[in-house]
Amino acid sequence: MTPACVADYRDAARRRLPRVLFDYIDGGAYGETTLAANVEDLRRLTLRQRVLRDVSQLSTTTEIFGQALSMPVVLAPIGLAGLYARRGEVQAARAARAAEVPFALSTMGVCDLEEVAGAATPPWFQLYMIRDRGFMTELLDRAARAACPVLVFTVDLPVPGARYRDTRNGMTSHAPTARVARALDGLRHPRWLWDVHIRGRPHALGNLASAETGLDDLSRFWSWTRRNFDPSVTWKDIDWVRDRWPGPIVLKGVLDAEDAREARRCGVDGVVVSNHGGRQLDGVASGIAALPAVAEAVGGDLTVLMDGGVRSGLDVLKALAAGAKACLIGRAWAWALGARGEAGVSHVLAILREELRVAMSLTGCTDVRAAGRELLEG
Ligand SMILES: Cc1cc2nc3c(=O)[nH]c(=O)nc-3n(C[C@H](O)[C@H](O)[C@H](O)COP(=O)(O)O)c2cc1C
Repeated sequence: MTPACVADYRDAARRRLPRVLFDYIDGGAYGETTLAANVEDLRRLTLRQRVLRDVSQLSTTTEIFGQALSMPVVLAPIGLAGLYARRGEVQAARAARAAEVPFALSTMGVCDLEEVAGAATPPWFQLYMIRDRGFMTELLDRAARAACPVLVFTVDLPVPGARYRDTRNGMTSHAPTARVARALDGLRHPRWLWDVHIRGRPHALGNLASAETGLDDLSRFWSWTRRNFDPSVTWKDIDWVRDRWPGPIVLKGVLDAEDAREARRCGVDGVVVSNHGGRQLDGVASGIAALPAVAEAVGGDLTVLMDGGVRSGLDVLKALAAGAKACLIGRAWAWALGARGEAGVSHVLAILREELRVAMSLTGCTDVRAAGRELLEG
């Protein structure tokens, strides 16, 4: 079957990937209420159909931090992508480069920033606050040397949210039974086993390799995260980062207008309105519900991006109409990568572009940069 939409890639990823990995991508925190709300709230927004408006010339191009984008879409940072496809971060970054949209590399990438910058293009680099500030400085220096144009600083993970699917699948467990279950899970997915598990090595978390050895073991990875992510982080630390990063900084994980104003005070350049794809605090507002207040508070001064639940080009247009300059896609590209590697990510980006163009045509919006509230009913 030829995949026609993002949901088809989700189904294909479910078939191709070991369950532990599919659920890691697909799942959210606790009862997954916020994860569902991210998708549902976007779906419920109603676009205003407008007709007879000469839509023969459409422009989907935009600019963020001086970078030209062929459409207002960014590949969100996703941890462990090198386990979904062989050297997965490089494959996704190549697809993003071909589509002329940015790729954001996670701190928790399997491929490190030098590998991605060398094999594809310097990525936006996503960083968490790590206790060891010396190591943080080292990572910032490496990102600058690799010519990463934008730093995405994620602030909604002072502690990890509980993800029940991962617990049930034994993703984080050292127990022998969990290890055997993971091995059997791999054996049941031979194409993945051959392509990624055997030919896709090394699986160490490249960016963190110099911090600790042995982070290719998932259970060690989790315990490292718990020990090294810094829950004492405050706005003062953002000043600290600001002083050490010369380029644009985007704070990812801002959901509240008050926090967005603080972010502006700290001198960052943008925010991503995000609840981490519903993977952190279940029960908080969806990205799209939180967006208008943040855009209203700081949209005049900061670049406001959003993510959470974007599954189509129609969703992209809705996010723009609600105040975002562009949106990040997370699971949409991760499923595509798991299903078909670079070709899958390229195809999903082509699908989003085409859906966006149709949505623009039927709402009478000829330029994404002019998209606003008038595209929505109510
Ligand atoms: C499997 C997975 C791993 C993620 N890893 C990271 C990460 O390492 N850093 C980060 O800032 N956000 C991470 N996120 C959150 C995404 O960057 C993004 O905010 C979220 O996926 C957007 O929601 P969506 O998946 O519904 O598009 C991850 C999300 C998923 C699904």
